[in-house]
Amino acid sequence: MTQGRPLLNRRLAEFGTTIFAEMSALAVRTGSINLGQGFPDTDGPEEVREAAVRALRAGHGNQYPPGSGVPELRSAITEHQHRRYGLAYDPDTEVLVTAGATEAVAAALLALLEPGDEVVALEPYYDSYAACIAMAGGTRVPVTLHPHDGAYRLDLDELRAAVTPRTRLILLNTPHNPTGTVLSRDELAAVAELACERDLLVVTDEVYEHLVFEGEHIPLASFPGMRERTVTVSSAGKTFSFTGWKIGWITASPELVTAVRSAKQFLTYVSGGPLQYAVAEALRLPDSYFDELRADLRAKRDLLSGGLTEAGFEVYRPAGTYFVTTDIRPLGERDGLAFCRALPERCGVVAVPNAVFYDHRDQGAPFVRFAFCKRTEVLTEAVGRLRSLAVR
Ligand SMILES: Cc1ncc(COP(=O)(O)O)c(C=O)c1O
Repeated sequence: MTQGRPLLNRRLAEFGTTIFAEMSALAVRTGSINLGQGFPDTDGPEEVREAAVRALRAGHGNQYPPGSGVPELRSAITEHQHRRYGLAYDPDTEVLVTAGATEAVAAALLALLEPGDEVVALEPYYDSYAACIAMAGGTRVPVTLHPHDGAYRLDLDELRAAVTPRTRLILLNTPHNPTGTVLSRDELAAVAELACERDLLVVTDEVYEHLVFEGEHIPLASFPGMRERTVTVSSAGKTFSFTGWKIGWITASPELVTAVRSAKQFLTYVSGGPLQYAVAEALRLPDSYFDELRADLRAKRDLLSGGLTEAGFEVYRPAGTYFVTTDIRPLGERDGLAFCRALPERCGVVAVPNAVFYDHRDQGAPFVRFAFCKRTEVLTEAVGRLRSLAVR
């Protein structure tokens, strides 16, 4: 306190230390297998790492790169969007490289919101969303994904009902963390129709675009009327297993890119110069790279999901991402936070309670998330440890 006031401002007061910090510290202290935080335990392709070394040595990007990102990366991003999705973007005016998807979301919200604007977001949500909406002075309006028949689904009537005259934008995330839901073509079409009808902007976080095991990833920007009102967010972290590099980007109309850049330039201005060159090479990897990544993670999903089922959890097998959400009630438990705090001592595994991703905490209380972006032997060991929970 100074001057009788808390140090942390009112907008951020409700956001303490993230659950990941607490759970990762617990993993270290207890020597547990950390399936809490979503980072791979092996680095991405060797040739991409080598490309970064080459860029550093050649002096590419060691000084401030251009504010929008190095031209090589911007071109690689537009080629990728065209090759994968048939979406044409101009690398000079319709791409902005950011410090990870996290900065992209933050800059988009800071740029596009006025205080008091409402943001409709799918709940449970990635933890930075609520804090970024708050920093931008916006009000979050959660639309809860409901578990049904082994998967989490978006209720389109609830989505429509959440939009008010004060709604400025929809903050979408597909494939969705933590539930693993991949929105279908029909669901996305309905979101697009709503955004057009109510003249809303959409920020769509598609960082898991290459991690889809069932169905397909369809960018929201590809739907009629959406290209000019959508900010699409991507990241090299998840696709190339270099989460520490923090290279992300947006693709959007020139007007939206200009707006988002106005905020971004005063956050980091630029970052990761040499790494941007390496990500440009990564995006041009052959399709086989992306196919193998998906196949590897699908096998890991099945390994962990099977083990969790055997251990007695109800498992929501994800259609995408590298997370699996479970219900702990079949184990005779109901409080995910208490369960996750006790789990390292009980069996040497760390997970995160989904409740922290909810405004309606009670809705998330019995759910717990495990990450499967780990080596097969680590997952096998974790499954063995979790088996001790099985109710006999
Ligand atoms: C949905 C979602 N968006 C954004 C991010 C952060 O991406 P980056 O590391 O590129 O900032 C994550 C990381 O877990 C995520 O799950």
